[in-house]
Amino acid sequence: MHFSKLTAAVVISAAILIQALNTVSYSDPGSGLEISLAIPDVQSAPFPLYMTFTAPIEVGWGGFATGGCMLRSPLIVAWPNNNSVTVTTRWAKYYHAPTPYLNTAIAVKSSSVNATHWTATFLCSKGCSDWYGGSIDPSYNNGTFGYAASSEVPAAPGNASTAIRFHDLAYGHFDWDLTKAKNPGSTVFG
Ligand code: HEM
Repeated sequence: MHFSKLTAAVVISAAILIQALNTVSYSDPGSGLEISLAIPDVQSAPFPLYMTFTAPIEVGWGGFATGGCMLRSPLIVAWPNNNSVTVTTRWAKYYHAPTPYLNTAIAVKSSSVNATHWTATFLCSKGCSDWYGGSIDPSYNNGTFGYAASSEVPAAPGNASTAIRFHDLAYGHFDWDLTKAKNPGSTVFG
C-alpha cells in the first residue's frame, strides 16, 4: 500500500516535471511529425538538446536539421524499431543520402511504439548544438530549423548506421523562438 502510494507519487511528480518544462514545438500538418525541444538557460553553444519526436506510424523515419538546411549540420533522425525507437545522427554534404555522424552523444530517455504512433524523448548531450562551421544561438528568437519525414522504416531498424531512404512524405523549414525553450534550473539536461 505504502509502496504503491509512493510509486504513484513518483510517477506523478515525474509527469509534473516533464510538463513543467518550457518547450517549443513544430507539427508538420502533412505527415503529422511533431518535434519539440527544451534547452537549458544558456547564452551560447554548446548546450544539450532535450527533444521529443512523435509521429503517426505511417512515418518510417522523422528528421530534424539542427542548422536549418539539410547540408552541413547534424541531422537527428529517428525511426521505430519493434517497441522502441532508434535515434541517430547523420551529416550531408550533398542532397544525397547522408552518412552517419559520429560526433554526437544521444541517450533515449523514453520511447514507445503502438498501432498508431511512435514517440521518443531523448537527450543529445554533445554535438547537436555546435558543429564544424556552425552552432545554434540559444538567445535568437527567430532561429530556422529543418525537418523531414519518410514513409519507409530503414531496412535494419536496430542498426543506428543503417541506410535511410528519401523523405518522400515531407521536408521543409520552420522558425522557433528559442528564448521560449529555456529552462532555468531544470535537471533534465544533466
Ligand atoms: C536518403 C536520404 C536523403 C536524401 C536522398 C535527401 C535528398 C534531398 C534532396 C534531393 C533535397 C532537395 C529537394 C528540392 O530541392 O526540392 C533535400 C532537401 C532537404 N532535406 Fe533531404 N535528403 C535525405 C535525408 C534528409 C534528412 C535525414 C534530413 C533531416 C532533417 C533532410 C532534410 C532536408 C531538408 C530540411 C531539406 C530542404 C532543403 C534544405 O534545407 O537543405 N534530408 N533532401
